[in-house]
Amino acid sequence: MAHEPASTAADANPVTTELRGKILLVTVDNPPVNALGVAVRRGLAAAMDAAESNAAVSAVLIVGAGRNFIAGADIREFGLPPQPPALPDVCNRIEACRKPVIAAIHGAALGGGLEVAMGAHYRIAVASAKLGLPEVQLGLLPGAGGTQRTPRLVGAAAALDMMLTGRHVGAAEALKLGLIDRLAQSDDTLAEGLAYAQELLASGAGPRRTRDAAGLADRDASRAAIEAARADTAKKSRHLFSPHRIVDAVQAALDKPFDEGQKLERQFFLQCLDSPQRAGLIHAFFAEREVVKIPEAAAARPRPFKTIGVVGGGTMGAGIAVAALDAGLPVTMVERDDVSIARGRANVEKVYDGLVAKGRMTAEAKAAVMARYTGSTDYASFADVDLVIEAVFEDLEVKKAVFAELDRVCKPGAVLATNTSYLDIDAIAASISRPQDVIGLHFFSPANIMKLLEIVVPAKVSADVVATAFELAKKLKKVPVRAGVCDGFIGNRILAVYRQAADHLMEDGASPYDIDAAVRNFGYPMGPFQVSDLAGGDIGWATRKRKAPTRDPKARYVHVADRICERGWFGQKTGRGWYLYPQGARTGQPDPEVLAIVDEERKKAGITPRSFTEEEILRRYMAAMINEGANVVHQGIALRPLDVDVTFLYGYGFPRFRGGPMKYADTVGLPQVLADIREFAKEDPLFWQPSPLLVKLVEEGKTFDSLNKA
Ligand code: 3HC
Ligand code: NAI
Repeated sequence: MAHEPASTAADANPVTTELRGKILLVTVDNPPVNALGVAVRRGLAAAMDAAESNAAVSAVLIVGAGRNFIAGADIREFGLPPQPPALPDVCNRIEACRKPVIAAIHGAALGGGLEVAMGAHYRIAVASAKLGLPEVQLGLLPGAGGTQRTPRLVGAAAALDMMLTGRHVGAAEALKLGLIDRLAQSDDTLAEGLAYAQELLASGAGPRRTRDAAGLADRDASRAAIEAARADTAKKSRHLFSPHRIVDAVQAALDKPFDEGQKLERQFFLQCLDSPQRAGLIHAFFAEREVVKIPEAAAARPRPFKTIGVVGGGTMGAGIAVAALDAGLPVTMVERDDVSIARGRANVEKVYDGLVAKGRMTAEAKAAVMARYTGSTDYASFADVDLVIEAVFEDLEVKKAVFAELDRVCKPGAVLATNTSYLDIDAIAASISRPQDVIGLHFFSPANIMKLLEIVVPAKVSADVVATAFELAKKLKKVPVRAGVCDGFIGNRILAVYRQAADHLMEDGASPYDIDAAVRNFGYPMGPFQVSDLAGGDIGWATRKRKAPTRDPKARYVHVADRICERGWFGQKTGRGWYLYPQGARTGQPDPEVLAIVDEERKKAGITPRSFTEEEILRRYMAAMINEGANVVHQGIALRPLDVDVTFLYGYGFPRFRGGPMKYADTVGLPQVLADIREFAKEDPLFWQPSPLLVKLVEEGKTFDSLNKA
């Protein structure tokens, strides 16, 4: 529970001290999350000096004001010139204090926050507290003694698990691990902390330094834990820098005295700080918090919603229904006939049956969730629903017919959303009497798992409907990105372009397998041809056929994918696509027949294949993605480059450590990207047209990130 700081001038001094009997109460009050900015570091060091020099003080109690203990180093300071005192010195200063120091923890004690607590001699936490070392998620390692103190406190295995996953540990588990000494009986952090401090004083307890703790005493077990972590990290984190340094730092904790280990930790931390991965991951951290800052959120309040309607119970409708049910919302699903609604219900139930089978849900819990689900073939069931999401076939006329029904039955003020992937939402809105209530909610498959939700804002929609959509995203624990109306919105529009670049590369000489390998080596979990096999080649085929009449006859068109689909090779579900999947295998094998089709198409197009290095493949693939990303920002389809980044991080598997395509472009340098595009344009000027925004930024010597801050 939070408590008010003693001083009201918290802004001036974020660390206040106050004598409570013999205990010096040190309160960190640095909203929003008590990050350890320079003033906090100075304040904590000064508080230790004050405690030692004041004979009236027998012990020190450190607490956080507001919702958290301390959420870690101030991430905004990374990359700026360092200002003393450094956090490791502050933690060492706390540990060196000649009077016992107690940390009383509530809310988050993360990263440097937990390192401060481990610098203290005793730790108590309220039951709801979350402790963790999430630095790895920012491309860092615990750099304020955390890699040395945590294994000494909880052993190598638990310390490595915490540092390599970055997971939050609850207070009860923290007690079991030995990370804290006491679990508070109430949520009154201050009272519990003071009582604990008094008890320690009464028992004559003195300073007890974590550097002397015996967590690494079993050297064989520690060595085995380190080796296991090293092997696992080599397998799972081959693209990443900081996890390997975390293992090295724990090795140092085992092999060397504390101070030497800490020196090495410092070296590793500075290497991480310098790495572009750190910049990419911290960009991602802030970008995913910025995406919700949209004009409509400031202009309007969300409409209240308690019940959800879903039209269509296929792949997406069922996934959306599960996402809403998981968030505790009642869901009414409407399908076109009895057979379809039975299938829709079965699609929803299948998800929960899977969880029950894996032991992740009880049969009773499943029954309780399904009790909130209603299936119907009658649109009148939507009469009282607050927000309806349509997920029927991707066909404008079918969707308009559904919206006409919604217009007829839904109550005034109900939000009417479509999950269309490509269609013109302005046209859907214009077809009914209440365009102000119509919005796009573009979920990604599987909709109950994928985090991204593109919120597509048509011209006539009212601001409170947009705000409602963002509120829904929060409720469903999705990451929302605001997008404008165009063919494919942000994600699928950009995908269409770099997917074409991949096809061009293939026809020019790279095999689909070379391209997939290059993209995987860049850090994606899968390459574009593997993704197509997973999603089903028929989806892209249908889109290509739909777009065929409006295709520019002068534009280059690669026919290979069509030839493959014509054979009924739609990917995993048909046992072959770009790859072969013998006997239902999940991992594909290269298919010589596909290569023969590629060859044949090259011949028809009069192309003599040439070879591409992995770097050449990536330059084209990324340049196409970045250039269309710039167009999307230029045309206001995305509000800022960071919205493109978040779309690709959460919807398209873009490697998080690179921050997103626009951040990656800044890392490469925009002049280089533009030079590449101009070079490729010599071969195909129609496809490679530099985005006006990219040209402008290069002329002005600016980065995409400069637009995020505007
Ligand atoms: N530094 C600077 N700003 C931070 C911050 C930090 N460590 N942590 C959060 N913030 C900011 C956010 O950007 C956000 O700012 P905004 O309001 O302007 O958008 C604001 O604080 C509130 O953050 P959230 O929206 O995330 O608030 P929640 O209540 O949802 O979550 C939290 C709170 C769990 C503490 C979450 O913010 C969090 O996980 N923060 C990061 C924790 C972390 O990674 N700590 C390690 C830092 S690295 C380190 O300590 C290095 C050391 O080992 C040397
Ligand atoms: P699907 O074919 O699996 O399901 C569509 C469902 O709509 C079927 O169950 C059908 O019976 C039902 N339906 C059709 N007409 C109806 C009507 N008039 N009234 C009630 N129900 C009707 O299709 P899927 O994949 O779920 O796609 C649905 C929508 O979601 C499409 O607009 C698609 O573009 C979009 N989408 C699809 C994604 C995917 O990966 N499959 C991803 C994101 C969006």
